[in-house]
Amino acid sequence: MNQEILIKTVQRLVEPGKGLLAIDESFKTCAGRFEKLGVPNTEETRREYRDLLITAPEIEKYVSGYILFDETIRQSTLTGESFVSILQGKGIEVGIKVDAGTVDFTGHPGEKVTDGLDGLEDRLKEYKKIGATFAKWRAVYTIGEHTPSEECMKANAEIFAKYATLCQENDIVPIVEPEVLMDGDHGMERSYEVTARNLEVVFDELKRALVFIPGMILKTSMVLPGKDGEVAVYNKEIAQNTVKCLKEKVPEVIGGIVFLSGGQKDEEATKNLNAMHNLGPLSWPLTFSYGRAIQNPALLAWAKNPNDVITAQKLLLQAAENNSLASIGKYEDLINRVRTSRHRE
Ligand code: 13P
Repeated sequence: MNQEILIKTVQRLVEPGKGLLAIDESFKTCAGRFEKLGVPNTEETRREYRDLLITAPEIEKYVSGYILFDETIRQSTLTGESFVSILQGKGIEVGIKVDAGTVDFTGHPGEKVTDGLDGLEDRLKEYKKIGATFAKWRAVYTIGEHTPSEECMKANAEIFAKYATLCQENDIVPIVEPEVLMDGDHGMERSYEVTARNLEVVFDELKRALVFIPGMILKTSMVLPGKDGEVAVYNKEIAQNTVKCLKEKVPEVIGGIVFLSGGQKDEEATKNLNAMHNLGPLSWPLTFSYGRAIQNPALLAWAKNPNDVITAQKLLLQAAENNSLASIGKYEDLINRVRTSRHRE
């Protein structure tokens, strides 16, 4: 493990004012999103859509790294330039999802563990040759009356530790992504309790395995009420709870913390991040690693009119800029500017 390489990659990924764009949807997730919009799900439509996301002009002003799927890291534009070389040409780090998705956790109905350790070392070496400098591994936890169980949290944490160790041995920055799902009608308190306990379990295992914490990134869900609940919660409350939880449970020396959007409304994800940066100084770099909250407007526009790539790319750029502003606490400024200029018209 070369700690200097890991730290330098982390620093490029969490450079102030920038964040990550996740475009690593699996075949199944992609199928779900495309089918809803009437887009056929083929290798070529996936290539075409990812092409517009990767070639969007000026996206490098706001995005420091793209997380790709195995199929995408091997694909190219129609003129034959590989997606990887396009990203590298813009100074964007290439990341790769390396988990193989979730499977049922034996003996624990409704709970999942993440698969994909088999052959991981060889895959990491191959991805590194292709150009990847960081990787991502996601585990999911559903909040229920008796879930997530300690056993499930521990099993996923042990797997995270093995994955992160293998990445770092190969000088690849591991992103560890424990996602507490928004499904359910639980309140903020329960979300806090589960997120906090899970982070404790995750970092206990990472430390036990001697993972180099400054050379990794945590990708986490925010502390949010369940999406089926009825109580509206202010962005500030979400921000306060999330930051408090992270301050209590994440080692201060961590390279960076990034968020997934997890099915929040696009603007809510942006406002919540912005609100966190308005709470005062934070102990670690804190930014976005959104998939849907950045892609949604572009995907909708492209699905309606696949020939108008320029409009879809402009929408992508706007969403990326909004989140870039949120990552330095300046998103409200942009809203105010837009309002003022409309007022003047
Ligand atoms: P969302 O922001 O759409 O939740 O996606 C982020 C991600 O990488 C999920 O694993």
